[in-house]
Amino acid sequence: MPSVIVLDDLSQEGLDLLDAAPGITYEVRTGLKGAELRDALRQFDGAICRSGVKLTADILEGNTRLRAVVRAGVGTDNIDKDAATRAGIVVMNTPAGNTISTAEHAIALMLALSRNIAPAYQSLVEGRWDRKKFMGAQVAGKTLGVVGLGRIGLAVASRAHGLEMNVLGYDPFMTAEQAGKLGIELLPSVADMLPRVDYLTVHTPLTEETKNLISDAQIEQIKPGARLINAARGGIYDEAALAAGLKSGKLAGVALDVYPEEPCTDSPLFGMEGVCCTPHLGASTEEAQTQVAVEAVELLSAYLNTGA
Ligand code: MLT
Repeated sequence: MPSVIVLDDLSQEGLDLLDAAPGITYEVRTGLKGAELRDALRQFDGAICRSGVKLTADILEGNTRLRAVVRAGVGTDNIDKDAATRAGIVVMNTPAGNTISTAEHAIALMLALSRNIAPAYQSLVEGRWDRKKFMGAQVAGKTLGVVGLGRIGLAVASRAHGLEMNVLGYDPFMTAEQAGKLGIELLPSVADMLPRVDYLTVHTPLTEETKNLISDAQIEQIKPGARLINAARGGIYDEAALAAGLKSGKLAGVALDVYPEEPCTDSPLFGMEGVCCTPHLGASTEEAQTQVAVEAVELLSAYLNTGA
């Protein structure tokens, strides 16, 4: 009978589905690290994780029992996929479940930046009623640049249209005709987008191509007063360059949900004026967590029971 280890918190609906899965047993063992994690994984046929555990080569190598790991979420960057392949472990993800929640979070960050929501509330907490200080910007009629027009990027673009924004897009896998049908003006490069954007949001994985996609040179080219949002992966924006851009006044705002190293409690941006940051909450909604958990359990039980 195949057995499954659940390595990170999984929503109750996912656990209920595991309970009901024919011929599968499971154990929830969260917070494992190092040798404990490696040894635990050797006793199971399948594993489900979120981003809390790091399945490095050291952890996976030599595992002759584990057949599959499913990431309840999109990014599999916490799993060493080469090492998994060498050990014969299939790595799967659930790309659709948190699309809407992550897109909504990017929009929430854009609006929070535009209307100074976090510092304005903080000023009230500190006993100040300061209406002048928090003059904001309306997003209607402004231009949003979306880098990466996959599921999440497109969901952001359609919500931006609902806010009456003009949307520019960059995605090497989309044609201008496809984008045009979605009301997006496709540009040939990020560089072409920069002088025109009031807001920039990225929705790509972190790869060699996207690492430091926005650094000092790009901030030099960007429209003065632009606001930048990242709810995708830390490292796509160079944080030091963002801090310099804010300090010089070139950028009006930066909102980050993701960081090069997570957990992150110490970024050069924290505490700077014009910054609004959250601790990787893009997919943290009841709805998204239910959906990714259910999708993860369905994928894993199908794979363990039928090999497909
Ligand atoms: C994902 O990759 O699914 C998101 O970043 C959310 C998460 O890591 O939980």
